[in-house]
Amino acid sequence: MCTLSERDRKVNWHPYTQMQTAAPAVPIVRGEGAYLYDDKGNRYIDAISSWWVTLHGHAHPYIAQKVSAQLHTLEQVIFAGFTHEPAILLSERLLALLPENQSKVFYSDNGSTAVEIALKMCLQQAYNKGIPKTKILAFKDAYHGDTFGAMSVSGRSVWTAPFKDQLFDVLFIDPPNADNLPALKDTISQYTQELACFVYEPLIQGAAGMLMHRAEDLDNLLGFCRSLSIPLIQDEVFVGFGRTGTLFAANHLKTKPDIMCFSKGLTGGTMPMGITTCTETVYQSFLSKDRYKALFHGHSFTANPLACAAALASMDLLLQEETLQRIQSITEQHIAFAQSITGHPKVKTVRHTGTILAIEWHTGEDTSYFNQFAAALYGYFWDRGILIRPLGNILYLVPPYCMSNEDLDYIYKTISQALETL
Ligand SMILES: Cc1ncc(COP(=O)(O)O)c(C=O)c1O
Repeated sequence: MCTLSERDRKVNWHPYTQMQTAAPAVPIVRGEGAYLYDDKGNRYIDAISSWWVTLHGHAHPYIAQKVSAQLHTLEQVIFAGFTHEPAILLSERLLALLPENQSKVFYSDNGSTAVEIALKMCLQQAYNKGIPKTKILAFKDAYHGDTFGAMSVSGRSVWTAPFKDQLFDVLFIDPPNADNLPALKDTISQYTQELACFVYEPLIQGAAGMLMHRAEDLDNLLGFCRSLSIPLIQDEVFVGFGRTGTLFAANHLKTKPDIMCFSKGLTGGTMPMGITTCTETVYQSFLSKDRYKALFHGHSFTANPLACAAALASMDLLLQEETLQRIQSITEQHIAFAQSITGHPKVKTVRHTGTILAIEWHTGEDTSYFNQFAAALYGYFWDRGILIRPLGNILYLVPPYCMSNEDLDYIYKTISQALETL
Protein backbone atom coordinates (compact mmCIF):
# COMPACT_ATOMS: atom_id res chain seq x y z
CA MET A 1 0.00 0.00 0.00
CA CYS A 2 1.24 3.45 -0.91
CA THR A 3 1.92 5.92 1.89
CA LEU A 4 0.31 9.35 1.76
CA SER A 5 3.71 10.83 0.84
CA GLU A 6 4.04 8.43 -2.10
CA ARG A 7 0.52 9.13 -3.33
CA ASP A 8 1.20 12.83 -2.96
CA ARG A 9 4.38 12.59 -5.06
CA LYS A 10 2.41 10.98 -7.88
CA VAL A 11 -0.13 13.77 -8.22
CA ASN A 12 0.91 16.97 -6.46
CA TRP A 13 3.31 19.75 -7.38
CA HIS A 14 4.29 21.77 -4.30
CA PRO A 15 5.04 25.50 -3.98
CA TYR A 16 8.63 26.74 -3.82
CA THR A 17 9.85 23.16 -4.19
CA GLN A 18 12.40 21.54 -6.51
CA MET A 19 10.37 18.37 -6.89
CA GLN A 20 13.30 16.29 -8.17
CA THR A 21 15.40 16.65 -5.04
CA ALA A 22 12.89 17.52 -2.33
CA ALA A 23 12.23 15.15 0.55
CA PRO A 24 8.77 13.55 0.50
CA ALA A 25 6.08 15.92 1.75
CA VAL A 26 5.09 15.24 5.37
CA PRO A 27 1.43 14.24 5.71
CA ILE A 28 -0.29 16.32 8.38
CA VAL A 29 -3.52 14.78 9.54
CA ARG A 30 -4.66 17.10 12.31
CA GLY A 31 -4.05 20.47 13.92
CA GLU A 32 -4.91 21.74 17.35
CA GLY A 33 -3.81 25.03 18.92
CA ALA A 34 -0.12 25.60 18.20
CA TYR A 35 0.38 21.94 17.22
CA LEU A 36 0.35 19.96 13.99
CA TYR A 37 0.16 16.13 14.04
CA ASP A 38 1.64 13.91 11.35
CA ASP A 39 0.25 10.57 10.14
CA LYS A 40 2.40 8.70 12.68
CA GLY A 41 0.95 10.63 15.59
CA ASN A 42 4.02 12.85 16.10
CA ARG A 43 3.32 16.36 17.36
CA TYR A 44 5.07 19.49 16.09
CA ILE A 45 4.97 23.03 17.42
CA ASP A 46 4.07 25.33 14.53
CA ALA A 47 6.58 28.15 15.12
CA ILE A 48 5.83 29.86 11.79
CA SER A 49 2.02 29.93 11.92
CA SER A 50 1.94 27.78 8.75
CA TRP A 51 3.35 30.45 6.40
CA TRP A 52 2.45 33.31 8.73
CA VAL A 53 -1.32 32.86 8.64
CA THR A 54 -2.49 31.12 11.83
CA LEU A 55 -3.35 33.60 14.59
CA HIS A 56 -5.31 31.72 17.27
CA GLY A 57 -4.20 28.15 16.62
CA HIS A 58 -5.20 25.34 14.29
CA ALA A 59 -8.79 24.09 14.05
CA HIS A 60 -9.98 26.72 16.51
CA PRO A 61 -13.40 25.55 17.77
CA TYR A 62 -14.95 29.03 17.82
CA ILE A 63 -13.95 29.79 14.21
CA ALA A 64 -15.01 26.26 13.17
CA GLN A 65 -18.41 26.76 14.74
CA LYS A 66 -18.97 30.14 13.04
CA VAL A 67 -17.84 28.85 9.63
CA SER A 68 -19.97 25.75 10.03
CA ALA A 69 -23.06 27.84 10.87
CA GLN A 70 -22.39 30.00 7.80
CA LEU A 71 -21.92 26.89 5.66
CA HIS A 72 -25.43 25.80 6.56
CA THR A 73 -26.88 29.23 5.76
CA LEU A 74 -25.15 30.68 2.68
CA GLU A 75 -21.86 29.27 1.41
CA GLN A 76 -21.35 31.46 -1.67
CA VAL A 77 -23.07 34.08 -3.78
CA ILE A 78 -21.89 36.16 -6.73
CA PHE A 79 -20.73 39.53 -5.31
CA ALA A 80 -21.42 41.56 -8.46
CA GLY A 81 -24.94 42.91 -8.01
CA PHE A 82 -25.45 40.99 -4.74
CA THR A 83 -24.30 41.36 -1.16
CA HIS A 84 -24.61 39.58 2.19
CA GLU A 85 -24.40 40.50 5.83
CA PRO A 86 -21.07 38.79 6.64
CA ALA A 87 -19.31 40.97 4.03
CA ILE A 88 -21.07 44.13 5.21
CA LEU A 89 -20.29 43.42 8.85
CA LEU A 90 -16.68 42.49 8.16
CA SER A 91 -16.11 45.69 6.18
CA GLU A 92 -17.77 47.79 8.90
CA ARG A 93 -15.74 46.18 11.66
CA LEU A 94 -12.42 46.22 9.80
CA LEU A 95 -12.77 49.87 8.72
CA ALA A 96 -13.47 50.81 12.34
CA LEU A 97 -10.06 49.39 13.30
CA LEU A 98 -8.06 50.94 10.43
CA PRO A 99 -6.77 54.51 10.05
CA GLU A 100 -9.86 56.73 9.76
CA ASN A 101 -9.11 57.69 6.14
CA GLN A 102 -9.83 54.12 4.96
CA SER A 103 -13.33 54.16 3.50
CA LYS A 104 -14.06 51.24 1.14
CA VAL A 105 -13.27 47.52 1.08
CA PHE A 106 -12.58 45.46 -2.06
CA TYR A 107 -12.50 41.68 -1.55
CA SER A 108 -10.35 39.02 -3.20
CA ASP A 109 -8.76 35.64 -2.40
CA ASN A 110 -5.16 36.04 -1.23
CA GLY A 111 -2.31 38.43 -0.54
CA SER A 112 -1.09 38.65 -4.12
CA THR A 113 -4.54 39.55 -5.44
CA ALA A 114 -4.94 42.16 -2.69
CA VAL A 115 -1.76 43.77 -4.05
CA GLU A 116 -2.82 43.40 -7.71
CA ILE A 117 -6.03 45.27 -6.94
CA ALA A 118 -4.16 48.02 -5.08
CA LEU A 119 -1.84 48.51 -8.07
CA LYS A 120 -4.78 48.56 -10.48
CA MET A 121 -6.56 51.12 -8.30
CA CYS A 122 -3.55 53.43 -8.49
CA LEU A 123 -2.83 52.96 -12.18
CA GLN A 124 -6.48 53.30 -13.20
CA GLN A 125 -7.03 56.24 -10.88
CA ALA A 126 -4.43 58.16 -12.88
CA TYR A 127 -5.86 56.85 -16.17
CA ASN A 128 -9.40 57.88 -15.22
CA LYS A 129 -8.13 61.38 -14.50
CA GLY A 130 -6.51 61.49 -17.94
CA ILE A 131 -2.95 61.74 -16.57
CA PRO A 132 -1.60 58.18 -16.91
CA LYS A 133 1.44 57.25 -14.81
CA THR A 134 3.91 54.62 -15.90
CA LYS A 135 6.19 53.85 -12.96
CA ILE A 136 5.81 52.35 -9.52
CA LEU A 137 8.03 52.94 -6.51
CA ALA A 138 8.99 49.94 -4.32
CA PHE A 139 11.68 48.73 -1.96
CA LYS A 140 14.62 46.64 -3.12
CA ASP A 141 14.15 43.02 -2.00
CA ALA A 142 10.44 43.65 -1.47
CA TYR A 143 8.04 40.72 -1.63
CA HIS A 144 4.41 41.37 -2.52
CA GLY A 145 3.39 38.03 -4.03
CA ASP A 146 3.72 35.75 -7.03
CA THR A 147 1.17 36.97 -9.58
CA PHE A 148 2.60 39.16 -12.33
CA GLY A 149 1.76 42.56 -10.90
CA ALA A 150 2.79 41.57 -7.39
CA MET A 151 5.95 39.97 -8.78
CA SER A 152 6.75 43.12 -10.77
CA VAL A 153 6.80 45.25 -7.64
CA SER A 154 8.85 42.63 -5.76
CA GLY A 155 12.64 42.71 -5.76
CA ARG A 156 14.27 41.18 -8.80
CA SER A 157 15.78 37.84 -7.83
CA VAL A 158 16.15 34.23 -8.97
CA TRP A 159 12.43 33.91 -8.22
CA THR A 160 11.53 36.50 -10.83
CA ALA A 161 14.41 35.96 -13.31
CA PRO A 162 12.51 33.72 -15.81
CA PHE A 163 9.88 36.45 -16.20
CA LYS A 164 12.08 39.53 -16.21
CA ASP A 165 11.01 40.70 -19.67
CA GLN A 166 7.34 40.54 -18.70
CA LEU A 167 7.64 42.56 -15.47
CA PHE A 168 6.69 46.22 -15.55
CA ASP A 169 8.66 49.34 -14.83
CA VAL A 170 9.53 49.83 -11.16
CA LEU A 171 11.82 52.28 -9.42
CA PHE A 172 13.46 50.35 -6.57
CA ILE A 173 14.88 52.19 -3.57
CA ASP A 174 16.60 51.01 -0.39
CA PRO A 175 14.45 50.82 2.73
CA PRO A 176 14.95 53.96 4.83
CA ASN A 177 17.49 54.39 7.61
CA ALA A 178 18.84 57.33 9.59
CA ASP A 179 21.49 58.06 6.91
CA ASN A 180 19.95 57.48 3.50
CA LEU A 181 16.73 59.54 3.68
CA PRO A 182 18.09 62.60 1.80
CA ALA A 183 19.37 60.37 -1.03
CA LEU A 184 16.07 58.46 -1.22
CA LYS A 185 14.11 61.71 -1.40
CA ASP A 186 16.42 63.00 -4.09
CA THR A 187 15.84 59.88 -6.22
CA ILE A 188 12.07 60.02 -5.76
CA SER A 189 11.93 63.73 -6.67
CA GLN A 190 13.39 62.95 -10.09
CA TYR A 191 10.45 60.68 -10.98
CA THR A 192 7.51 62.38 -9.26
CA GLN A 193 5.52 62.98 -12.45
CA GLU A 194 5.76 59.35 -13.57
CA LEU A 195 5.01 57.59 -10.27
CA ALA A 196 1.57 55.99 -9.96
CA CYS A 197 2.20 54.87 -6.36
CA PHE A 198 4.62 53.68 -3.71
CA VAL A 199 4.01 50.11 -2.52
CA TYR A 200 5.83 48.97 0.63
CA GLU A 201 5.89 46.40 3.40
CA PRO A 202 5.73 48.52 6.55
CA LEU A 203 8.39 47.89 9.25
CA ILE A 204 9.27 44.34 8.17
CA GLN A 205 10.26 42.93 4.80
CA GLY A 206 9.24 39.36 5.54
CA ALA A 207 10.37 37.18 2.65
CA ALA A 208 13.54 39.25 2.21
CA GLY A 209 14.73 37.74 5.51
CA MET A 210 12.66 39.59 8.12
CA LEU A 211 14.57 42.81 7.37
CA MET A 212 13.36 45.59 9.63
CA HIS A 213 13.39 49.38 9.41
CA ARG A 214 12.42 51.97 12.00
CA ALA A 215 8.89 53.37 12.04
CA GLU A 216 10.15 56.97 12.27
CA ASP A 217 12.32 56.56 9.15
CA LEU A 218 9.46 55.02 7.19
CA ASP A 219 7.14 57.76 8.40
CA ASN A 220 9.60 60.38 7.25
CA LEU A 221 9.73 58.79 3.78
CA LEU A 222 5.95 58.38 3.58
CA GLY A 223 5.43 62.00 4.61
CA PHE A 224 7.72 63.07 1.79
CA CYS A 225 5.84 60.93 -0.78
CA ARG A 226 2.56 62.35 0.49
CA SER A 227 3.89 65.90 0.01
CA LEU A 228 4.49 64.95 -3.66
CA SER A 229 0.98 63.42 -3.93
CA ILE A 230 2.34 59.93 -4.62
CA PRO A 231 -0.38 57.45 -3.56
CA LEU A 232 0.74 55.09 -0.78
CA ILE A 233 -0.05 51.35 -0.81
CA GLN A 234 0.68 49.79 2.58
CA ASP A 235 0.99 46.03 2.21
CA GLU A 236 -0.02 44.62 5.61
CA VAL A 237 -0.58 41.12 4.22
CA PHE A 238 2.07 39.73 6.58
CA VAL A 239 2.21 42.26 9.42
CA GLY A 240 -1.51 42.96 9.87
CA PHE A 241 -3.61 41.62 12.74
CA GLY A 242 -1.16 41.94 15.60
CA ARG A 243 2.16 40.63 14.29
CA THR A 244 4.04 43.87 15.01
CA GLY A 245 2.70 44.13 18.56
CA THR A 246 -0.13 46.51 17.60
CA LEU A 247 -3.23 45.56 15.61
CA PHE A 248 -1.70 46.96 12.41
CA ALA A 249 1.69 48.34 11.40
CA ALA A 250 -0.31 51.51 10.66
CA ASN A 251 -0.60 52.00 14.42
CA HIS A 252 3.18 52.69 14.51
CA LEU A 253 2.98 55.34 11.76
CA LYS A 254 1.62 58.88 11.58
CA THR A 255 1.23 59.02 7.79
CA LYS A 256 -1.95 57.26 6.74
CA PRO A 257 -1.77 55.23 3.52
CA ASP A 258 -4.18 55.71 0.62
CA ILE A 259 -4.61 51.98 0.14
CA MET A 260 -4.04 48.97 2.41
CA CYS A 261 -3.68 45.24 1.63
CA PHE A 262 -4.58 42.34 3.95
CA SER A 263 -4.72 38.56 3.85
CA LYS A 264 -3.01 35.77 5.89
CA GLY A 265 -4.16 36.56 9.47
CA LEU A 266 -7.36 38.17 8.19
CA THR A 267 -9.31 34.93 8.66
CA GLY A 268 -7.10 33.76 11.51
CA GLY A 269 -5.43 31.61 8.87
CA THR A 270 -8.56 29.53 8.34
CA MET A 271 -9.86 30.45 4.89
CA PRO A 272 -8.23 32.12 1.88
CA MET A 273 -9.22 35.77 1.62
CA GLY A 274 -7.67 39.06 0.51
CA ILE A 275 -8.82 42.61 1.20
CA THR A 276 -7.79 45.89 -0.36
CA THR A 277 -9.09 49.01 1.39
CA CYS A 278 -8.88 52.55 0.06
CA THR A 279 -9.71 56.15 0.86
CA GLU A 280 -12.83 57.92 -0.32
CA THR A 281 -10.64 59.92 -2.74
CA VAL A 282 -9.40 56.76 -4.48
CA TYR A 283 -12.94 55.37 -4.60
CA GLN A 284 -14.37 58.65 -5.97
CA SER A 285 -11.90 58.64 -8.84
CA PHE A 286 -13.77 55.60 -10.23
CA LEU A 287 -17.24 57.18 -9.98
CA SER A 288 -18.57 58.42 -13.29
CA LYS A 289 -21.50 58.22 -15.68
CA ASP A 290 -18.96 56.54 -17.93
CA ARG A 291 -19.14 52.76 -17.30
CA TYR A 292 -15.61 52.34 -18.64
CA LYS A 293 -14.25 54.09 -15.55
CA ALA A 294 -15.33 51.23 -13.25
CA LEU A 295 -12.76 48.93 -11.68
CA PHE A 296 -13.02 45.86 -13.89
CA HIS A 297 -11.69 43.36 -11.41
CA GLY A 298 -13.33 40.43 -9.64
CA HIS A 299 -12.88 36.81 -8.64
CA SER A 300 -15.36 33.94 -8.49
CA PHE A 301 -15.01 33.83 -4.72
CA THR A 302 -14.96 37.59 -4.07
CA ALA A 303 -16.23 38.15 -0.49
CA ASN A 304 -16.99 34.46 -0.01
CA PRO A 305 -19.39 34.26 2.97
CA LEU A 306 -17.47 31.40 4.63
CA ALA A 307 -14.23 33.38 4.54
CA CYS A 308 -16.10 36.46 5.86
CA ALA A 309 -17.49 34.36 8.73
CA ALA A 310 -13.98 33.08 9.53
CA ALA A 311 -12.61 36.65 9.46
CA LEU A 312 -15.36 37.91 11.77
CA ALA A 313 -14.76 35.05 14.21
CA SER A 314 -11.00 35.63 14.10
CA MET A 315 -11.58 39.33 14.80
CA ASP A 316 -13.70 38.46 17.85
CA LEU A 317 -10.82 36.39 19.18
CA LEU A 318 -8.15 38.93 18.27
CA LEU A 319 -9.87 41.74 20.15
CA GLN A 320 -10.22 39.72 23.36
CA GLU A 321 -8.11 41.07 26.21
CA GLU A 322 -6.49 37.66 26.61
CA THR A 323 -5.21 37.66 23.00
CA LEU A 324 -3.90 41.22 23.23
CA GLN A 325 -2.04 40.21 26.39
CA ARG A 326 -0.56 37.16 24.64
CA ILE A 327 0.72 39.43 21.84
CA GLN A 328 2.29 41.68 24.47
CA SER A 329 3.75 38.74 26.35
CA ILE A 330 5.26 37.11 23.23
CA THR A 331 6.74 40.51 22.31
CA GLU A 332 8.38 40.85 25.74
CA GLN A 333 9.68 37.29 25.73
CA HIS A 334 11.22 37.81 22.27
CA ILE A 335 12.98 40.95 23.52
CA ALA A 336 14.44 39.13 26.54
CA PHE A 337 15.57 36.15 24.47
CA ALA A 338 17.06 38.38 21.76
CA GLN A 339 19.13 40.15 24.44
CA SER A 340 20.32 36.84 25.84
CA ILE A 341 21.82 35.67 22.52
CA THR A 342 23.08 39.03 21.25
CA GLY A 343 26.86 38.85 20.96
CA HIS A 344 26.94 35.05 20.57
CA PRO A 345 29.72 34.28 18.07
CA LYS A 346 27.30 32.42 15.77
CA VAL A 347 24.73 35.23 15.79
CA LYS A 348 25.35 37.77 13.04
CA THR A 349 22.28 39.82 13.89
CA VAL A 350 19.12 39.31 15.87
CA ARG A 351 16.05 41.39 15.00
CA HIS A 352 12.62 41.63 16.53
CA THR A 353 9.43 43.62 16.06
CA GLY A 354 6.37 42.63 18.05
CA THR A 355 5.77 38.88 17.83
CA ILE A 356 8.34 38.40 15.05
CA LEU A 357 11.90 37.36 15.90
CA ALA A 358 14.69 36.71 13.37
CA ILE A 359 18.21 35.40 13.94
CA GLU A 360 20.80 35.64 11.19
CA TRP A 361 23.47 32.96 11.63
CA HIS A 362 27.15 33.20 10.79
CA THR A 363 27.75 30.24 8.49
CA GLY A 364 30.82 31.11 6.45
CA GLU A 365 28.50 31.49 3.45
CA ASP A 366 26.80 34.73 2.39
CA THR A 367 23.36 35.47 3.78
CA SER A 368 20.88 34.29 1.17
CA TYR A 369 17.65 32.35 0.69
CA PHE A 370 19.74 29.55 -0.84
CA ASN A 371 22.26 29.35 2.03
CA GLN A 372 22.82 25.58 2.58
CA PHE A 373 22.56 25.99 6.35
CA ALA A 374 18.76 26.18 6.10
CA ALA A 375 18.46 22.40 5.71
CA ALA A 376 20.56 21.72 8.82
CA LEU A 377 18.54 24.21 10.85
CA TYR A 378 15.23 22.82 9.63
CA GLY A 379 16.23 19.22 10.42
CA TYR A 380 17.56 20.08 13.87
CA PHE A 381 14.29 21.67 14.92
CA TRP A 382 12.06 19.11 13.18
CA ASP A 383 13.83 16.30 15.04
CA ARG A 384 12.96 18.13 18.24
CA GLY A 385 9.29 18.57 17.38
CA ILE A 386 9.38 22.16 16.09
CA LEU A 387 8.35 23.37 12.63
CA ILE A 388 10.44 26.28 11.36
CA ARG A 389 11.15 27.31 7.76
CA PRO A 390 14.41 29.27 7.69
CA LEU A 391 14.96 31.85 4.97
CA GLY A 392 18.46 30.54 4.17
CA ASN A 393 20.61 31.24 7.24
CA ILE A 394 17.86 33.34 8.83
CA LEU A 395 15.83 31.50 11.42
CA TYR A 396 12.64 33.31 12.36
CA LEU A 397 9.69 32.78 14.67
CA VAL A 398 6.15 33.91 13.84
CA PRO A 399 4.18 32.09 16.55
CA PRO A 400 0.42 31.83 16.70
CA TYR A 401 -0.76 33.96 19.63
CA CYS A 402 -2.14 30.91 21.44
CA MET A 403 1.35 29.46 21.88
CA SER A 404 2.04 28.72 25.56
CA ASN A 405 4.98 30.19 27.46
CA GLU A 406 6.28 26.63 27.95
CA ASP A 407 6.35 25.99 24.20
CA LEU A 408 7.94 29.36 23.52
CA ASP A 409 10.59 28.63 26.17
CA TYR A 410 11.21 25.22 24.66
CA ILE A 411 11.77 26.84 21.25
CA TYR A 412 14.19 29.40 22.75
CA LYS A 413 16.08 26.60 24.55
CA THR A 414 16.29 24.65 21.31
CA ILE A 415 17.69 27.72 19.54
CA SER A 416 20.29 28.14 22.31
CA GLN A 417 21.27 24.47 22.02
CA ALA A 418 21.49 24.77 18.24
CA LEU A 419 23.81 27.75 18.65
CA GLU A 420 26.16 25.52 20.64
CA THR A 421 25.76 22.41 18.50
CA LEU A 422 25.38 23.28 14.82
C1 LIG B 1 4.02 41.31 2.43
C2 LIG B 1 3.37 40.26 1.57
N1 LIG B 1 2.56 40.64 0.57
C3 LIG B 1 1.94 39.75 -0.21
C4 LIG B 1 2.14 38.39 -0.03
C5 LIG B 1 1.47 37.41 -0.94
O1 LIG B 1 0.46 36.75 -0.27
P1 LIG B 1 -0.11 35.35 -0.83
O2 LIG B 1 0.97 34.34 -0.57
O3 LIG B 1 -1.34 35.10 -0.03
O4 LIG B 1 -0.39 35.53 -2.28
C6 LIG B 1 2.98 37.96 0.99
C7 LIG B 1 3.21 36.51 1.21
O5 LIG B 1 4.05 36.09 1.95
C8 LIG B 1 3.62 38.91 1.81
O6 LIG B 1 4.47 38.55 2.79
